[in-house]
Amino acid sequence: MITSQAPGKLFIAGEYAVVNKGYPAILIAVDRFIKASIIKSEDVSSIKTYNLSPVIIKRVNNHIPLSTHNKSLAYVISSINTFEKFLSEKKIDLRHYDLIIESDLESSDNVKYGLGSSAAVTVATLKVLNKFYKLSLSKRDLFKLALISQFKINDKGSGGDLAASVYTGLIYYKSFDRGWLKTNLNNLSISKLLEIHWPYLEIYNLKLPKDLNLIVGWTKKPASSFDLVSQVNLAKENNSDFYTEFLSKSRICVNKLRFSIEKDDSIEILNQIKINRLLLANLGKIFNVEIETDQLKALSDIVSNYGGSGKLSGAGGGDCGIGIFKGNYAKLKIISEWQIAGIKYLDLNVYKEQNNNDK
Ligand code: PMV
Ligand code: MG
Repeated sequence: MITSQAPGKLFIAGEYAVVNKGYPAILIAVDRFIKASIIKSEDVSSIKTYNLSPVIIKRVNNHIPLSTHNKSLAYVISSINTFEKFLSEKKIDLRHYDLIIESDLESSDNVKYGLGSSAAVTVATLKVLNKFYKLSLSKRDLFKLALISQFKINDKGSGGDLAASVYTGLIYYKSFDRGWLKTNLNNLSISKLLEIHWPYLEIYNLKLPKDLNLIVGWTKKPASSFDLVSQVNLAKENNSDFYTEFLSKSRICVNKLRFSIEKDDSIEILNQIKINRLLLANLGKIFNVEIETDQLKALSDIVSNYGGSGKLSGAGGGDCGIGIFKGNYAKLKIISEWQIAGIKYLDLNVYKEQNNNDK
């Protein structure tokens, strides 16, 4: 059996702005994973996701039709399709296998935490196929394959979630140009897309700040990033001046955050995270989209009361928020106040894969 795993992620700053080409975000990978395993089989291939029964893979014109009723399965199939297109370009014969996907990115009653399970399932599938076919693809190649696979299902995502899952640790991510990708997906082979530079795209690892703690709180309410991003996209049509200003402030804030991380300047890191929180809360207010919900506001205010910075992570509307602060005393206090406010502390940490300097 061959096994690979891909971590979940959290946004630290830059949400919403990062769906636009060239805009940056900062993310971390966390130590909760999607695991993908492959066992070689003789005459048919199958996929088993989570606790569901295995599904036999049937190819129609060298392509597995996408199943839309099961979201995770759709991402697995899209990843296999992208990978097999790449194999056929390389004249590599397809092989049969049973693929098994397991996840610890959902709660025990199968409610998602918002830790990027779609991204992690995509990356885990591609990583295990990479091993099974012994291709030694680079992180950059895996990221691009993952982005192409995700793009076929949801062309609104920034790809930051995939970058965090592939590169792991703390990352600075600058978004690709989706218009460029749309055109070139039709014009270029996958191999060519892996070879060439994608305009605007930048991904690199940052060192973790020494003196700061990160904790994660879960609102227990799942939120749809696709819906929230669609609502923001609609609202920006009538508020383009405000949106342009939001984009520029977000870019300045994320870049200042990056510099303060590089200088390990805790005070400035906390300051910029707070600024990003306010930018996102204000975006929601002006656009009448529930980004910072009352619960996420409470989560963040509690962290501020202990001298740290709290913030929703991702699209908001529910899912998770983060608290960043100094000292262990604050940690216990924040966790107990979160609990009173109905927020569940998730015991997870930043995950950094070893030998992670492959660009
Ligand atoms: O809630 P999440 O973890 O899916 O994050 C969404 C973040 C957005 O910037 C709003 C969208 C994106 O794809 O980056
Ligand atoms: Mg979310």
